[in-house]
Amino acid sequence: MKAVCVLVCLALANGISASIFKKNRQPDDELIVQPLDYINQYQRPLYQPQEQTYKQYILSQKRYKQKPQVPVFSQESSQESQEAVRSLRKFVTVNSDYKTPRGQKWGKPAYTSFMKVQGDQPAYGDYIWSIPSMPIGYNDNTYTEQKKIEKILTEAQNVLTHPTTEEKVKFNQAVAAAEQTPNEDLVLNTTELLKKYKYPVEEHTIKTDDGYLLTVFHIPAKQQQIRDVTKKPVVFMMHGLLGSSDDWLLMGPGKSLAYLLSDAGYDVWLGNARGNKYSRRHVAKHPALNDFWQFSNDEVALHDLPAMIDYVLETTGQEKLQYVGHGQGTTAVFALAATRPIYNKKIAMIHALSPMVYMNNVRSPLIRMLAPNTEFEERLHHQIGHGAFKPSPEVISSVGGDMLETEIGSKKVGSNVYYAMSGVNIANVEPALMPVIMSHLPTGASTRMMRQYGQAVASDAFRWFDYGPVMNEQVYGSTKAPRYRMEAVEAPVSMYYSEADWLAQPADVARLQAELPHLVSSYKIPTDAHFAHMDFQFSTKAPELVYKRIIDSMTNVSY
Ligand SMILES: *[C@@H]1O[C@H](CO)[C@@H](O)[C@H](O)[C@H]1NC(C)=O
Repeated sequence: MKAVCVLVCLALANGISASIFKKNRQPDDELIVQPLDYINQYQRPLYQPQEQTYKQYILSQKRYKQKPQVPVFSQESSQESQEAVRSLRKFVTVNSDYKTPRGQKWGKPAYTSFMKVQGDQPAYGDYIWSIPSMPIGYNDNTYTEQKKIEKILTEAQNVLTHPTTEEKVKFNQAVAAAEQTPNEDLVLNTTELLKKYKYPVEEHTIKTDDGYLLTVFHIPAKQQQIRDVTKKPVVFMMHGLLGSSDDWLLMGPGKSLAYLLSDAGYDVWLGNARGNKYSRRHVAKHPALNDFWQFSNDEVALHDLPAMIDYVLETTGQEKLQYVGHGQGTTAVFALAATRPIYNKKIAMIHALSPMVYMNNVRSPLIRMLAPNTEFEERLHHQIGHGAFKPSPEVISSVGGDMLETEIGSKKVGSNVYYAMSGVNIANVEPALMPVIMSHLPTGASTRMMRQYGQAVASDAFRWFDYGPVMNEQVYGSTKAPRYRMEAVEAPVSMYYSEADWLAQPADVARLQAELPHLVSSYKIPTDAHFAHMDFQFSTKAPELVYKRIIDSMTNVSY
């Protein structure tokens, strides 16, 4: 009798809570489930690192013929972040028993790849396991691997400018001096930076059709400078890989492109891709869990950009906008324009700084090591996990950080994954700007996004994310990921690229140019300027070499 009562009560309680949920649900909150979300449940990570005892750990280290390291928190971890990791670890462990709708048990999460629950900036260095030096892998292949790694690092190094010892010392002293000087620009967000320099600013939150909440910043055209409305003076700017809207402002007024465009009378909008510090929210997914991070450039191109572009056009009542993209900001817009023809009509001109479409000649060691045609790629993928891209200090130093540290003579530069990925030429950057850049970058990306660039290195084309033949068949209906057809990009394009750019090499840019039907202009930065990837946003030479040209070409565009 009692048991029956319990059952009835349970059923009642269930019914009540179900009806409560129904009532509280707003149509606006409905989440459109994408096919890709649906298949995520089948995507078991290739590797499921287990918690090891110390003994097991030492044994596994012996297998790699490596000096054993004690598994500890890395030295950089603050007391506070250790606490955060501990509590999150407990949280994640408890939830790892969750069963998928089909009853499979999800694998244990990789302890090496999650981030702090709170705080905007991902904190680097919060790892449970201290990871042995990467990526000299399994015994049999060590020699070949080492040779390949050496080749990759040497080829990247060859593109750098090799400053003399005096130049290095002078530069690093100036950086150290700048670090001693209090500078609030280090911590200001996009809104605060614009306010500080007396520019009007608005923050807008935009929901994508798959539930991500993106922040877009608006610098309204100053009243007295408003251009002829028929000129449709709206500019939308999209940052590069590991970056954010901050990057268009860091050099300050009179130098950074967003300020210059605003000064020239344009209505400027700064976008933020999902996963960066301003767009790390979702109606249902939590960024502390890997589920949030299951996106590549395909989702940025086909969900984020349309949401932001349509919002900007609707809000301003315009039919077209000028699109300025750097690095990943160009990857996304080319993918979008190739896939959804209507957006070619919404973009007056794509201004592509360092266009990243074809990657066969890429010089960035990180991206090359992620390519699926090397012996160590598996091990590197294992280390970076399947969620947020948050490589350990050991990984960063192995994928170019050490080499960069030697080149620049700065441990800080070598340990920042943004520099390790994209290289730096100290002659082009104001030393005082280095601490500012390092405190604003990196801002977060998904490992899948990084992997997609790695895949492009070994690919014959610019393709959608490659899940492997079996999954591709389910997702795309073919064993190969489909390619993005650059012949279909009808929007006019003008581009800017450089020989010393680790990420957009001239040979790859030339291939893209040959395929685009509507290339209006193409400017190769003079070789003696040694423009690195980041120089398009941070070099003292950028206003003269690049920004002036962009603004001139916008003024001359006929709509
Ligand atoms: C920027 O900082 C200000 C002041 O701290 C804050 O009110 C605002 O919400 C921040 N904006 C974003 C997008 O984080």
